[in-house]
Amino acid sequence: MIARTGYDSAMLARGGRETDGDEVSREVSLDGARTTQRALAVHRLLNSQSRIGTAPLTDGRRIPLPDIHPPRADLVATLALRRSAEDYADRPLDLTTLSAWLRFSVGVQRFVPAYGVTEHPLSMAPTAGGLDSLRAYLAVRTAEALVPGVYRYEAVSHELVELSTVDPVHALRHVYLQPEFVPRAAVSLALTARLDEAFDRYPLRHYRTLHVDSGVAVQNLYLVGTALGMACCAVAGFDDTALSGLLGLPETEIPTMLFAAGHAA
Ligand SMILES: Cc1cc2nc3c(=O)[nH]c(=O)nc-3n(C[C@H](O)[C@H](O)[C@H](O)COP(=O)(O)O)c2cc1C
Repeated sequence: MIARTGYDSAMLARGGRETDGDEVSREVSLDGARTTQRALAVHRLLNSQSRIGTAPLTDGRRIPLPDIHPPRADLVATLALRRSAEDYADRPLDLTTLSAWLRFSVGVQRFVPAYGVTEHPLSMAPTAGGLDSLRAYLAVRTAEALVPGVYRYEAVSHELVELSTVDPVHALRHVYLQPEFVPRAAVSLALTARLDEAFDRYPLRHYRTLHVDSGVAVQNLYLVGTALGMACCAVAGFDDTALSGLLGLPETEIPTMLFAAGHAA
């Protein structure tokens, strides 16, 4: 039986098939919208910010990312080399580097039958219950073949979806609490958590687990970035409302981490 506070990996292992015990999961699902609102109330309280409606951005061009070989690097050597960078090369991020970074940090690792579908994607960065609970966005200042703007990464098709072609530099100065990152980072990657996806299945305490999911992805971004010769820094110091506005997030999606990146100096 999956308890209300329980973890849904048992269901994932059964290929998404329900058992009698899953009645409890259905109850949680019915309650999902209410739990999402409660989580948003906690989130705003923690950030001392009230709700400011953000203008949604509509999907534009889809930009396929090139196929790439995985970086060849020793795991322990990469762990030992990894640093939070202050110095970034003053040049655009190569498209192949960007493609490899996204593919091997937060791309799809495999598909499994789960949650009522035969091919449910599981990420290179594991999430609680294998839920599709995280999204990755890019605010591009300078990258090869990309117009400065905002993009959403689509892991299954390994594409970027263009959301805005407004240069994000001005907005990023209000996003980073340390604006010195703005001119250094060629791209800023934002991880977000999808509250509706999470609270359709889990109770309110899963608000914490979503941040653990993000932390797992952060370490992937650091390690794959290091293996690719990138300069990276996880940045928790950001303004939630300003970042949500830049990305045009729906109310049920919250930014969890920002990541400055470029080529190493
Ligand atoms: C979750 C997380 C959040 C961080 N947030 C910031 C930040 O807001 N600003 C910053 O300059 N560095 C930030 N860092 C970088 C840390 O300061 C850095 O990892 C730490 O000093 C250790 O240095 P190292 O990463 O080079 O080993 C963050 C790191 C992590 C893991």
